[in-house]
Amino acid sequence: MADKLISILLIEDNSGDRRLISEMLAEASANEPGIAFDVQYADRLQLAIEYLGQHRAEVILLDLGLPDSQGLDTLKRVYSEVPELPIVVLTGLNDELIGVQAVNKGAQDYLIKGQVDTHLLRRTIRYAIERKQAEERERRLQLQLNLSSRLASLGLMVEGIAHEINNPLSSVIGFAQMLMYEDLPENIKNDVKMINDNAQRIADIMNNLLTFARQQNLQRTYININDIIRATLQMQAHSLESNNITVILQLDPALPSTMADATLLQQAFLNLIINAETEMKQAHGKGSLLIKTTLISDTIQISFTDDGPGITEANLTHLFDPFFSTRGVGHGTGLGLSVCYGIINEHNGQIYVQSQPGKGAVFTVELPVVAEGKRVEVA
Ligand SMILES: Nc1ncnc2c1ncn2[C@@H]1O[C@H](COP(=O)(O)OP(=O)(O)OP(=O)(O)O)[C@@H](O)[C@H]1O
Ligand SMILES: [Mg+2]
Repeated sequence: MADKLISILLIEDNSGDRRLISEMLAEASANEPGIAFDVQYADRLQLAIEYLGQHRAEVILLDLGLPDSQGLDTLKRVYSEVPELPIVVLTGLNDELIGVQAVNKGAQDYLIKGQVDTHLLRRTIRYAIERKQAEERERRLQLQLNLSSRLASLGLMVEGIAHEINNPLSSVIGFAQMLMYEDLPENIKNDVKMINDNAQRIADIMNNLLTFARQQNLQRTYININDIIRATLQMQAHSLESNNITVILQLDPALPSTMADATLLQQAFLNLIINAETEMKQAHGKGSLLIKTTLISDTIQISFTDDGPGITEANLTHLFDPFFSTRGVGHGTGLGLSVCYGIINEHNGQIYVQSQPGKGAVFTVELPVVAEGKRVEVA
């Protein structure tokens, strides 16, 4: 029995070529204990796209000349459907150039029909998988770096604005509250209350902005993240249940405790849970949320995986920006994820998201394990 099964989708309309490749893959499986190749076929692009919408594949072997699509356009369409999958293009003897062009347009490699043997095919497939994974890692790192530096400068600006606004704002709230105790005609009292309530709303927004800008003092105690997750879920249990959201917990029982601010982490986790709940409810009227904790070397990893509508590539880059929201006016301030970002950052941790439209979203939080009683320097 093979330890690893590599699923391949072979998109090829020529039955002779299909048979040849599947024979080589069968031979490759037989020659290499521990690895087996499973091949599925599609002889038209449309069928391939339908297959990929419903099944998992790890590599695509792609003939560019199909009955319903020709040349680099075929690659473009497959790539836009599954940008996360490695693609190996199959070209004819006389069009090696198109293979090179395909690699420039996002394919991981190309093979020339008639010049492929079992060994080359196996090596190309494995190399394509490795190369794609390395490219993905690099891309994510780059995105993360760009995001951190952009959010850091936004944070500085927010800090400046908040500083300037907070003093006059406290004075508005202070005077409004003083006036509320005066013996005033009822209609004026109502107006003063209105001033107080709205000024208070601004103060709440300012508070959230300061949390994003890492301007909070952490009250660290020695806590277990699993307990924080359970407590947060309890706070939201009623709403989750009435919105038909099933929560699956996979909490590592051996997770070490760490010095962290329980209240702030609870706030961050609650924002992530509420976002997933809101999106799933809006998309399907129900949903499933998997919350998982694990220890990876010295880092506690907490992931929130939902089966909601997912997030477009364009929105992914703005998700943690203050005031970015896709909910209509009055339904979201767009500060939830900014607050999460500030809280996790202040713990010297990381928060990131992976998602594709239609395929749900995974928010991952990583926190360093801090030994009991240890003083933590702010990064
Ligand atoms: N799990 C998710 N699935 C899909 N989209 C999400 C998810 N979580 C967040 N988003 C997107 O990110 C946007 C920003 O989220 P954020 O929590 O910062 O603000 P909000 O939820 O719109 O408003 P607020 O949290 O201030 O009430 C959301 O409007 C939504 O478009
Ligand atoms: Mg939110």
